[in-house]
Amino acid sequence: MNAITPNATVIPAPVGLLAELTHRCPLRCPYCSNPLELDRRSGELDTATWQRVLTEAAALGVLHVHLSGGEPTARNDIVEITKTCATLGLYSNLITSGVGGALQKLDALYDAGLDHVQLSVQGVDAANAEKIGGLKNAQPQKFAFAERVTQLGLPLTLNSVIHRGNIHEVEGFIDLAVKLGAKRLEVAHTQYYGWAYVNRAALMPNKAEVDRSIRIVEAARERLKGQLVIDLVVPDYYAKYPKACAGGWGRKLMNVTPQGKVLPCHAAETIPNLEFWYVSDHSLADIWANSPAFTAYRGTDWMKEPCRSCDRREKDWGGCRCQALALAGDAAATDPACSLSPLHAKVRDLAVEEAAETPPDYIYRTIGSNVQPNVRTPLNEEAPL
Ligand code: SF4
Ligand code: FES
Repeated sequence: MNAITPNATVIPAPVGLLAELTHRCPLRCPYCSNPLELDRRSGELDTATWQRVLTEAAALGVLHVHLSGGEPTARNDIVEITKTCATLGLYSNLITSGVGGALQKLDALYDAGLDHVQLSVQGVDAANAEKIGGLKNAQPQKFAFAERVTQLGLPLTLNSVIHRGNIHEVEGFIDLAVKLGAKRLEVAHTQYYGWAYVNRAALMPNKAEVDRSIRIVEAARERLKGQLVIDLVVPDYYAKYPKACAGGWGRKLMNVTPQGKVLPCHAAETIPNLEFWYVSDHSLADIWANSPAFTAYRGTDWMKEPCRSCDRREKDWGGCRCQALALAGDAAATDPACSLSPLHAKVRDLAVEEAAETPPDYIYRTIGSNVQPNVRTPLNEEAPL
């Protein structure tokens, strides 16, 4: 089904719904894409509301539901919610850390009709992984969880977020994915928004390390054809062109926060003056078609130069709005990750400088932290670093 706006423009239905069931999580990864101000348990949507949201998603035409967080298995109703997805014919993907109570709930999730598991791995060496995730004894729990996933015959994807603290382990992540029986591995260089933005200097790898990691992935793709699919997300700051963030603003995805606020992407709340609608007040179809946040940067009308006249504007949709806001101070600017942005050289210089410095300690993700979002000054042409 498609959604219709008041002026009768037909908007193709979203493909995916990211259901951030909770921000609670046993891990404290310093690159977490959750907002700096995390939602508390007391404000989370209840089971019936999530079931209503999923029903509306199916009616709207959503195909995939990513059960995410935080750690989604921290919810007592995760099995019920998964069963609702199966009943509605929605493909369910559990995005999990595999720690805490995840293993205990896995068989019940399988019985409820779970379709796919995406397991995060912070590192290969246990001590390094546990330092990054901020939780002791996490690695053996993850391995036991992965083993049970494959025993059940569920397809397993490993997700590794790459940064200077684990970029030397890219070969190890590939070997680990094979050993654990994963069908897919995501080698995803860190995207610098949310907690990763405040930890950028601690996470930024240098260009030589990035190039080496890309070569390793390309060689492994050849070697492991038919056995393991490897998705590579290259780091923006060293890229030539940006990615179509979230598949393009308001084009593919809806992101529902634990409190029921509906966002076009993870970090949309960092953009000031955007009006977000809640599932308590509006249907998903209404939000998709008419919410001011979704319409703000949908399509190409909002674009400035050089995006406005660029022949890639319907390929990458101008890159990431949240990164444009963070780096250029203007969410409607060309993403400075783009080589055609006037700020691109500065962004690259900044990455080179930060990668050359001794990394500061991580600021770990914590509920109730007083980390301020605007700890960095945007790079603008008038006020260069
Ligand atoms: Fe994409 Fe804009 Fe860069 Fe063109 S100028 S490649 S549309 S970000
Ligand atoms: Fe918001 Fe990229 S994270 S548009």
